[in-house]
Amino acid sequence: MSGRSSQPSLQLWIIAAGLSAALCDVKTAGSLTAEAGQPAVLRCDISLASGQVVRQVRWLNRHNVAVLAFEPPARVSLSQDHVKLIPSRRNATAITISRLRPEDGGCYRCIFDVYPSGRQEGSTCITVVGKVHLEGNRTAISGKPVTLSCWYSLPERVRQVLWTKTTEQGDTAAVASYSKRAAHTSEQFKGRVRLSPTLEDSRLTVLSVRTEDEACYTCQFHTYPDGARSSTACLSVYVLPKPEVTHVASSPGVTEANCTAQSRPPAEITWEVGDENRTLGAPVSSAYEQGDGTTTVTSTLLFQSGLLGDAAVKCVVHHRGLEKPLTLALSTNVRPAIIVLLSVCGVAAVLLLCLCVCLCKCFICTQD
Ligand SMILES: *[C@@H]1O[C@H](CO)[C@@H](O)[C@H](O)[C@H]1NC(C)=O
Ligand SMILES: *[C@@H]1O[C@H](CO)[C@@H](O)[C@H](O)[C@H]1NC(C)=O
Ligand SMILES: *[C@@H]1O[C@H](CO)[C@@H](O)[C@H](O)[C@H]1NC(C)=O
Ligand SMILES: *[C@@H]1O[C@H](CO)[C@@H](O)[C@H](O)[C@H]1NC(C)=O
Repeated sequence: MSGRSSQPSLQLWIIAAGLSAALCDVKTAGSLTAEAGQPAVLRCDISLASGQVVRQVRWLNRHNVAVLAFEPPARVSLSQDHVKLIPSRRNATAITISRLRPEDGGCYRCIFDVYPSGRQEGSTCITVVGKVHLEGNRTAISGKPVTLSCWYSLPERVRQVLWTKTTEQGDTAAVASYSKRAAHTSEQFKGRVRLSPTLEDSRLTVLSVRTEDEACYTCQFHTYPDGARSSTACLSVYVLPKPEVTHVASSPGVTEANCTAQSRPPAEITWEVGDENRTLGAPVSSAYEQGDGTTTVTSTLLFQSGLLGDAAVKCVVHHRGLEKPLTLALSTNVRPAIIVLLSVCGVAAVLLLCLCVCLCKCFICTQD
């Protein structure tokens, strides 16, 4: 009775052992997706029983060509240029393909020559995909040109490139497109934008940026066989401030100064009043939005008129589009400056004359 029941269980055990030998001894990721131009890592793990030793490991590509072979731990006997061995434990193997090309796609086999049991192998497959690269969000200065550039990492698959513009309100319009057969620019952008006649690296240039160019731009690559791939970046348009300062005597001994700057986005205005504490309260700021997308900011400062003479009052305009803040001195008092200059010159001339006369007299004296 015990003999009859033990026989089927032994058979089952043998089948299970056979299955595990065939399926489970070498483990791999199965499949992975990687971007063209980027490195990819392939890896196999093997379960070794005690007494089993790996004598050699080989990696074959989809054409059954060896890309790398080595004897553990790391004696490489063969390797293709762009394939490197990653040092691993004796029960694992990993390789790096340094820059994936489209032809590097497909299934790879890792083959372990195990002593004494024989060969064990696993398979892992790579799908090489392209990706759209577009620089991130940008800022442009009104009146200046700006170029957005975009590329697909599998350029040989690109058939057409199309740029579209999406405004803040969500309206999308085609800007320009290019393919080997045709180049096209939408009517509203004719003469204002230029698209490079290239498929591998597409550059869209706005020749002279206007505030209405502030929007998000999408470059879309029509590729074969990957389909349509796109990426979006947004453009902010700055209008730089050209500030002005004015001042009047608002009441006896008190001067009111205004510093005004029209820009996009609004400028921030501060004042420098030297070391003195002769301002009458903090400056007062006001902002008015203009119809063209710019904002006029006016800062008004009241101070004791005595500060004017020292030319110590300065308006400082801060704006994100400027490398450093603009500083405007409140020095309309040109006349006192000229008077001081003239007096200094006059005194110098008189002194010089005296010196001459003196020297002359002394000379004559010694002659006598
Ligand atoms: C490989 O060997 C390490 C120890 O050297 C062990 O921790 C690991 O579990 C082993 N992996 C396999 C798949 O046998
Ligand atoms: C780019 O700008 C858009 C809109 O201004 C914003 O939604 C997005 O998060 C920005 N992206 C980055 C990476 O800053
Ligand atoms: C400063 O601006 C205010 C309003 O913004 C105006 O009433 C005032 O006359 C201006 N003063 C000067 C000195 O320009
Ligand atoms: C400046 O003067 C005001 C009063 O006019 C005073 O409250 C303030 O403390 C003074 N600040 C300094 C730094 O002297």
